[in-house]
Amino acid sequence: MGVRKAIHRAVSVLTSPATPEDYLQVINPLSSARQLRGVVTAVRREGTRSATISIRPGRGWAPHLAGQWARIGVEINGVRQWRSYSLSAPEGHDPEITVTAIGRVSSHLVQHTKVGDILFLAPPQGEFVLPTGPRPLLMITAGSGITPVMSMLRTLVPKRRDADVVLVHSARTEGEALFLDELRAMQRDYPGLHVVTRFTATQGRLDFSDAAQVDAVCPDWRSRKAYVCGPIELLDDTEKFWANAGLPHGLQVERFAPAQLVPSDTDGGRITFARSDKEAVADGSTPILEVGEEAGVIMPSGCRMGICRTCLTPLVSGQVRDLRTGEIHADEGELIQTCITAAVGPVHLEI
Ligand SMILES: Cc1cc2nc3c(=O)[nH]c(=O)nc-3n(C[C@H](O)[C@H](O)[C@H](O)COP(=O)(O)OP(=O)(O)OC[C@H]3O[C@@H](n4cnc5c(N)ncnc54)[C@H](O)[C@@H]3O)c2cc1C
Ligand code: FES
Repeated sequence: MGVRKAIHRAVSVLTSPATPEDYLQVINPLSSARQLRGVVTAVRREGTRSATISIRPGRGWAPHLAGQWARIGVEINGVRQWRSYSLSAPEGHDPEITVTAIGRVSSHLVQHTKVGDILFLAPPQGEFVLPTGPRPLLMITAGSGITPVMSMLRTLVPKRRDADVVLVHSARTEGEALFLDELRAMQRDYPGLHVVTRFTATQGRLDFSDAAQVDAVCPDWRSRKAYVCGPIELLDDTEKFWANAGLPHGLQVERFAPAQLVPSDTDGGRITFARSDKEAVADGSTPILEVGEEAGVIMPSGCRMGICRTCLTPLVSGQVRDLRTGEIHADEGELIQTCITAAVGPVHLEI
């Protein structure tokens, strides 16, 4: 037995019925072997609907690569809610997230987070990262889609004299645009960064069905490695544009929300959550994850869009529909992704 384990066992005897973990957390709330945590060290307002939250992570945090994201947990009315957020701080720095208030958890984070609060963390992940060698880059972002790219710019541009980056960033209005002052200052200080801003309420969107518009903002876009992050329509339009140009691999996409869902008029049904001893009536289009959370079931989740598989739960009986493809899953014992499936008739889940 390791020394650490032996001490833990001895202390367990002295502290029972509470665990040493419980006492350690009173002394130092970041000290938990079970769950990675961080303490909020600063909260900065950004634009009109967003805030950047700086976090000092506890033991066990693995440093992030520029562009990666992490799951962040926050307790709201006693229930721990998890969402994914890109880490906007540069590589080598403590994590920061920049959250735009659009729904329940993001609004809570923007409006109620204060210095000293404890947030729950999961390790950074994601492939939306800088290339390993020097390459001319084109970043296309809109709204909160700037956050992973901001981490990349902050990491790359001040350090590399040979950086060559064009950023095309859209926001509805100048007031809503994130990081505008910092981007303008970076452009002034570093000749390797060229920033094109577009305020869509007055200028309209950049039209990716018109190559001349793209040429006008970045004439050499074909020879650049391109990244895009923003609303679904922007991702779809740019993917189509690069594919039509015969360069489908020239564009790397980061999604914050699931791709377009397949519409259906199927009825839902009653979902039974066996282990949690709860049930709820669901319609045919709401993800089972949301139905369970609403009913007070502790549902595991991560990306909430069918990528990370954190939400896998065994189907005991019934049928569920994949909201992205329309495919029906009905095999007993099959692991279903609750974030992108909805009930088709009565469903019985193990959770
Ligand atoms: C890899 C990844 C990185 C992310 N990074 C960021 C980030 O840096 N900053 C940030 O603010 N958010 C980011 N998100 C989105 C974030 O995880 C949440 O989805 C978002 O904050 C909404 O959560 P909520 O609880 O407030 O809304 P909910 O109450 O869960 O949802 C409210 C409604 O908004 C819709 N919705 C969810 N996300 C979006 C979206 N991005 N745009 C438009 N509608 C949406 C939902 O479908 C739902 O209808 C990221 C998501 C992923 C998967
Ligand atoms: S929460 Fe990531 S796949 Fe369902």
